Amino acid sequence: DWTMGAYREEAIRKIKEQVGDKKVICALSGGVDSSVAAALLHDAIGDQLTCVFVDHGLLRLNEADEVVAMFRDHMNLSVIHAQEQELFLGALEGVSDPETKRKTIGKLFIDVFQKYANEIDGAEFLAQGTLYPDVIESVSFSGGPSVTIKSHHNVGGLPEKMGLKLVEPLRELFKDEVRALGHELGLPDSFIGRHPFPGPGLAIRCPGEITREKLEILRKADAVYIDQIRKHGLYDEIWQAFVAILPVRTVGVMGDGRTYDYACALRAVTSVDGMTADYYPFSHDFLGETATRIINEVKGINRVTYDITSKPPGTIEWE
Ligand code: XMP
Repeated sequence: DWTMGAYREEAIRKIKEQVGDKKVICALSGGVDSSVAAALLHDAIGDQLTCVFVDHGLLRLNEADEVVAMFRDHMNLSVIHAQEQELFLGALEGVSDPETKRKTIGKLFIDVFQKYANEIDGAEFLAQGTLYPDVIESVSFSGGPSVTIKSHHNVGGLPEKMGLKLVEPLRELFKDEVRALGHELGLPDSFIGRHPFPGPGLAIRCPGEITREKLEILRKADAVYIDQIRKHGLYDEIWQAFVAILPVRTVGVMGDGRTYDYACALRAVTSVDGMTADYYPFSHDFLGETATRIINEVKGINRVTYDITSKPPGTIEWE
């Protein structure tokens, strides 16, 4: 892509100009944004960049290993894998309020990131994959007063606290442009094409109290759902798809027995930039087949619903 090629050269020039020969640290989330930011920085400044991947125990099935392997082996980046699952899940015990969850995770994330970053000698910059919609959504509605719908999980406040300067090379881009840039940088298309995944991870797909049991069930159900979507060739038509596990058990019947297990909701939306979204019009056949697979393959779920709310008035995530 000609435009992105030019954008990339310009972005690299700006990064070099800003960073010089100093060291940069970057929080890698496994999402497309921070991945593209890391790849761009690596291109610009090579081993002056160190990434920290914080594993908060709220990732999808096999996600941590896949992300770390890709960046270390495929892209030769220096990545620290911070295994802090116990810390995060411990702090979230008994927490059910969405904003408290977000704030708990955000604060711990900063503590953990800071701890690992302090071990990197002489870092002067912090890189973030902030996009244009992140910048505007957390600031204001157009024309209206400044309102925050959800506190976004990022490392806000950290640069000042650590005396670091901020590098945000994606700040002017929308999601589709970030993907084009990632392609330009040689990231695998399968990776670039991945649906967005929020910083607080599965925590905001588990309304009510988060337990290890629910997370286990959620991971399995989500993997089956995404497998169905890929098998039916629908993945690239959808902006984002995931399962939310509901804080309610319902009665069902399986074989000769009564079951009393969790209900879950499937979510799939189309969107251009995540700011507005429509629910995806799956066929009834697809939905029926998927519900059957989830109930048969995932112990702990006996009821599947499909969320047909658009944004607005809903948000994409459940919390
Ligand atoms: P909502 O639920 O607000 O989500 O309609 C819009 C888009 O943002 C993602 N999202 C987040 N991304 N940190 C992130 O990096 C967050 O805290 C966060 N919360 C929501 C969401 O997955 C969707 O793509």
